[in-house]
Amino acid sequence: MKQLIGDDVAHAAELLREGGIVAIPTETVYGLAANAFDEAAVLKVFEAKQRPSFDPLIVHIGRREDVHRVMKELSPGAEALMDHFWPGPLTLVLPKQDIVPDLVTSGLDTVGVRMPAHPLALELLRSLDFPLAAPSANPFGYVSPTTAQHVADQLGDRIPYILDGGPCIVGVESTIVGLDDGRWVLYRPGGIAVERIEEVIGRVAVTMKKVMPVAPGMLESHYAPRKPVHVGDVITLSQQHKSKRIGMISFREDHDVHCCEVLSSSGDLSEAARHLFSALRTLDASDCDVILAERFPDEGLGRGASTIA
Ligand code: TXA
Ligand code: MG
Repeated sequence: MKQLIGDDVAHAAELLREGGIVAIPTETVYGLAANAFDEAAVLKVFEAKQRPSFDPLIVHIGRREDVHRVMKELSPGAEALMDHFWPGPLTLVLPKQDIVPDLVTSGLDTVGVRMPAHPLALELLRSLDFPLAAPSANPFGYVSPTTAQHVADQLGDRIPYILDGGPCIVGVESTIVGLDDGRWVLYRPGGIAVERIEEVIGRVAVTMKKVMPVAPGMLESHYAPRKPVHVGDVITLSQQHKSKRIGMISFREDHDVHCCEVLSSSGDLSEAARHLFSALRTLDASDCDVILAERFPDEGLGRGASTIA
């Protein structure tokens, strides 16, 4: 029998061609992929993730010219963004081609597309003649996986194969921008800082709810660990919770608590973003009673890293 985890791109491609689902590595987080043009295959992704509702999925392509198969009305700004940031952690939301099934876009007439910057993902995509629809490979309510083993732990009994590309180097999801009524808007902060995008296309409006550092509200919805999480000034929070076993996520410094995960001792935001999900996961699996997380600095990549917890 084939192992659940491996780096056999041909095997992954075969499963996908047969209408199956496969967990794939990307530079951001692992995705759970299916043929984006095959509604029955895409349905299996929703079933495996047990999403209570059908959120639109991101479509992944391996060749720049394939963008025209899934999107139309590419503006010069969109082309410039692709030139600058693809392959990479940027998803563009633009009008879709009819061939993209409603199930992928939740009935929207736009589609989110990106070209991932992971060599195995690109090799896989380039060996297929269809793009891959893939949300993050976590069951609903869990943190996004950044290693093949995370996927195996969470979804191993529901998927036939996990393509192992090692730990994700970005560690947070892609930044999502789109054109809305002719102006660029940010749908989700992520692996590419908005400031860098603005250098290419000018002002990007923020339509989403206020971008809050490691926002508890967001933890409750999509990425909720099982343990209570409080975000803020960790010194104040530790005093408030001193009768409990504290699991702390500290941005930079080690603290004398029951357990502490330091995201980046050098204060590097990208490194911290990369470690955030696994820190949450480690503390969630530990014997601490409560997780106290230090706020990310609200600048650059920190904006992305902070909302994805
Ligand atoms: O880094 C990533 O983007 C990862 C890897 C696997 O590529 N994927 C990912 O997918 O984060 P997912 O399903 O967890 O998040 C997709 C997000 C959703 O929040 C969805 O609302 C948004 O993309 N999205 C997709 N299509 C959209 C559209 N047409 N309009 C607005 N938002 C869209
Ligand atoms: Mg997700």
